[in-house]
Amino acid sequence: MSDLFDFEQRRDQYGVMGNPISHSQSPRIHSLFAEQTRQHLSYEAIHVDLGGFAQAVGNFDASGGKGLNITVPFKQEAFELVDELSARARRAGAVNTIKFEKHKRYGDNTDGVGLVNDLRQNHHIVLAGKRILLMGAGGAARGVLAPLLECKPAVLMIANRTPDKAVALAATFTDLGSIKGCGYHELGEQRFDIVINATAASLQGELPPLPESILADGAVCYDMMYGKLTPFMSWARSHGAAQVFDGLGMLVEQAAESFFLWRGVRPQTAPVIALLRSEFPVAIS
Ligand code: ATR
Repeated sequence: MSDLFDFEQRRDQYGVMGNPISHSQSPRIHSLFAEQTRQHLSYEAIHVDLGGFAQAVGNFDASGGKGLNITVPFKQEAFELVDELSARARRAGAVNTIKFEKHKRYGDNTDGVGLVNDLRQNHHIVLAGKRILLMGAGGAARGVLAPLLECKPAVLMIANRTPDKAVALAATFTDLGSIKGCGYHELGEQRFDIVINATAASLQGELPPLPESILADGAVCYDMMYGKLTPFMSWARSHGAAQVFDGLGMLVEQAAESFFLWRGVRPQTAPVIALLRSEFPVAIS
């Protein structure tokens, strides 16, 4: 009994902090990864009160925790709390993964690579040379800009309800490629091959004010939300998108990248996506 107790005590501790957090699929995903790769670890969802984030991270660190995922609304705060940043986290201005090392906290951001891996590897979408429209200029959008630009699209256009935010955000990434920011009405007659929804509109059951004729022939539409058919996904279907995806694959892919950072082992994502898909059956094409 005490051997078993010691064994349990020695499990490396991981978790995800957010508010709200009760619906997070991350504990499930990381348990499946651990089982698949035979890693001995525990992973829990940790609800953190607004204003209590730094304290919660400190407590987790002091108790010997090895790693954290950070979700809404604490990613920017996490950025301030780490000692060292990956290049992609610095670019994103946000941290979704912390690795607790002996004398330092290392912060990374795996959201962007999660999106790109889902698009390219799972859905076989080519991003190079494509005209990409990214809706939204908040934290979710900021996190994916550098990895998208690394794929060398012909143009990456950010459209936002508050146009100035899109223009300002684009301006900080121009060294990485062809990127512009504007308001929705300024999109005019332009057409895009790939349209990605990184706004919070889906959470409110709303649709960003997209011009009717924005989709090029064969266009791909992607909503970072998962678990239900969003107004944007419905809009995409009725406006001739060739393929429409939700963000379930991105969720699993960003988790896999965090798991790799912590454990040095890359889990297979396909079986985990398939299992979750059976529980969140948003039809995709
Ligand atoms: P997150 O970290 O999820 O990106 P955020 O930083 O609050 O959250 O950003 C939310 C984004 O969704 C913003 O780009 C916001 O537009 P504004 O900058 O104009 O506020 C966008 N957004 C939220 N609700 C929206 C809606 N109903 N239609 C269009 N865009 C919306």
